[in-house]
This record gives sequence, C-alpha cells and structure tokens, in this order.
Amino acid sequence: MELFEAIRTTRAMRRLDPDRPVATEDLWTILEAAAKAPSGGNRQVARWLVVTDAGKRAEIGRLYGEAWGSVRHVYDGDSPPSPLLRSADHLGAHMGEAPVILIPCSRGGDPASIYPGCQNLFLAARALGLGTALTTVHRLKEQEVKAVLDIPEDVSTWAMIPLGYPLGRWGEAPRRPVEETTYWDHYGERRARR
Ligand SMILES: Cc1cc2nc3c(=O)[nH]c(=O)nc-3n(C[C@H](O)[C@H](O)[C@H](O)COP(=O)(O)O)c2cc1C
Repeated sequence: MELFEAIRTTRAMRRLDPDRPVATEDLWTILEAAAKAPSGGNRQVARWLVVTDAGKRAEIGRLYGEAWGSVRHVYDGDSPPSPLLRSADHLGAHMGEAPVILIPCSRGGDPASIYPGCQNLFLAARALGLGTALTTVHRLKEQEVKAVLDIPEDVSTWAMIPLGYPLGRWGEAPRRPVEETTYWDHYGERRARR
C-alpha cells in the first residue's frame, strides 16, 4: 500500500472481527515498525505487551469497559448518539474480544517517546489490512490492568490498543483542512495552499 493512502485511511477501527486471528508474523512486522520509531535520547524505553490469552483479554476488556462507562457521559451530547459514540460504546463492550490487545509500556519515561511508535504500528497494521484504535481510558483502572498482566509498579501503561481485522469499511478520516490548522510566520496567519 502506498504510504500516503495508508496515512489518509488509518483511523480508529473499533469494530473488529473476534473470529479472525492475526498471524504471528504480521504481529512481528507491525511491532518492528513500532520499534523503528524515534524516542527521547534514543533511549528506546517502550516495551510492548502483546495480550493474546483469551482469559486475560476478557479481564482487561472488562476493566476497559468499566473505565469507558465512567467517562462516557462526557461525550454523550447528541441524541441519537453520534457514530463516534456508538463506535466507542461497541469497543467498551467488546474490547476483550479483539484477537490481540497491545499495551505499550515504559518504566518511568514520557509518553512522548511512546506515541511515535504507536503511530508507526497503526500505519504498518493498516498496510496489512489490520485495524487498530488508540485508547487511553483504561488508565482510570491502570492498577487493576497492571495486576492482570503482572506489570511492575514502576512501569506505566500508556495505551490499550485492540488489533484485528475490521468488520467495517476503511474510509478517510474526517479532519480539518490543513490550510485551517497551519499558520505561517506568526500565530494565526493562514495562507491558501494554491
Ligand atoms: C490520546 C488519545 C486517546 C484516545 N483514547 C480513546 C479511548 O480511550 N477510547 C476510544 O474509543 N478512543 C480513543 N481515542 C480515539 C479517538 O477518539 C479517535 O482517534 C478520534 O475520534 C479520531 O477518530 P478517527 O481517526 O476514526 O476519525 C483516543 C485518541 C487519542 C489520540
């Protein structure tokens, strides 16, 4: 897949096929893409926890669902619920059924050294037809998630990323036009692209 097409069509894919497994070789490929990302001082603090065990996925999926339930009201403005809310609700109910759940971790450190790897991984997954979604609400239940996975006290978990083949279609993510979000020479000064 062409890189710019992958960038345009990589988005939060929260509805994943629970019955279609992810090949181990594909897992290594996308984890290697994550490992190629930059980090502060090239310290490479990220550690990726790959959760495939069905029981552990169910347990951390339940914790994710509880965490999502406790913040859902923040996003619940529209009636009927927006597509984004419905998609987030689906993930809240089904996180544990994603064929793989990835947890980027680091001992201390700064998430600024973690998220470039996440984005590399999302793009690599997209190129292989695999869906992902960056989620962080599990952090409201982080201690419990860490207990399920035997994660040491001084290690932080920065995201919970479901991975699998999407049930829905790939599409281009809705984003503001770049001319609107780009300023030139001083803050607030926009230019037309052409
Ligand atoms: C820092 C961060 C945290 C996020 N946390 C969650 C989350 O906890 N749950 C969730 O369903 N989506 C989460 N998202 C996904 C965003 O909702 C999603 O990227 C955004 O709505 C754009 O979606 P799209 O790429 O499909 O257009 C998070 C995204 C970011 C960047």
